[in-house]
Amino acid sequence: MGVNSLGYVCLNVSKMDEWCKLLERVFGMEPRPRNGSTAIDYRMDSHHHRLSLYPSAADGIAAVGWEVSSEERLDELSIALKEQGLDVVAGSPELCRERKVQKLYSYTCPVTQADSEIYYGPLVTNVAFTPTRGISGYKTDHQGLGHIVFWVKDLAQAVKFYENIMGFGVSDYIAWDVHDAVFLHCNSRHHTLALMQDGPGPAGAVMHIMLEANSLDDVGSGYDIVRDLGIPVMLDPGKHSNDHMQSFYLETPSGFWIEYGYGGREIGPDWEIKSYDQPMLWGHRPVSA
Ligand SMILES: [Fe+2]
Repeated sequence: MGVNSLGYVCLNVSKMDEWCKLLERVFGMEPRPRNGSTAIDYRMDSHHHRLSLYPSAADGIAAVGWEVSSEERLDELSIALKEQGLDVVAGSPELCRERKVQKLYSYTCPVTQADSEIYYGPLVTNVAFTPTRGISGYKTDHQGLGHIVFWVKDLAQAVKFYENIMGFGVSDYIAWDVHDAVFLHCNSRHHTLALMQDGPGPAGAVMHIMLEANSLDDVGSGYDIVRDLGIPVMLDPGKHSNDHMQSFYLETPSGFWIEYGYGGREIGPDWEIKSYDQPMLWGHRPVSA
């Protein structure tokens, strides 16, 4: 029982134009406007979309979508969530059509407070992804959209929920300064989820989302474009101690960060959990304005 990958993220955004510019000019994603709606879906691989933007007065997560492999496993997970006392709501046919999935359930994550969905059967297409800038695309497929990192209030309780109910396994731990972080996998991606104790954002807030390029050149040229467009760089290029991702971090128009990376190592059958006392092997220095 458990989830297979991070499938999609839906965002309420107050600065729609800036978001569209970021996703198209930096990340090369394909916009897929909807008929009769101001929301825009964005495609980055074979899935109909992986990100959705909803114009809104306030910024925040509209839905974190966790993919499950089959209807049977989806229903099993929905029962497990209900047994945790959560209000689990079956998605209407309209919502399933909007998300482009066969079936879904909505709930509020008890440890991140994020509006969340579990689903199966996403719409995919055989037509090749056509990026809006010259990039080689993204490492997704069974590894999903990337990874997401939340600040949480009770780290031990949060890890327990994602291990015991959502089916994740611990990849490793990093402790540095005042931050303790636990990294968790649900497929071969080193981590699909990381949970961090406290932090500058409110508990339950997204710290960052990571998108993994198929080429280091995509990340490097993206860094140049970010600098040219005046988008705030939060951490300089660097390499992480645990997943070996070579990446940099930018601030999105909603305030949380996106990590644009390449070369993350994968969880294999011989994986052994380690602990680290710093998040970087080199670089990733904070950028002061
Ligand atoms: Fe990350």
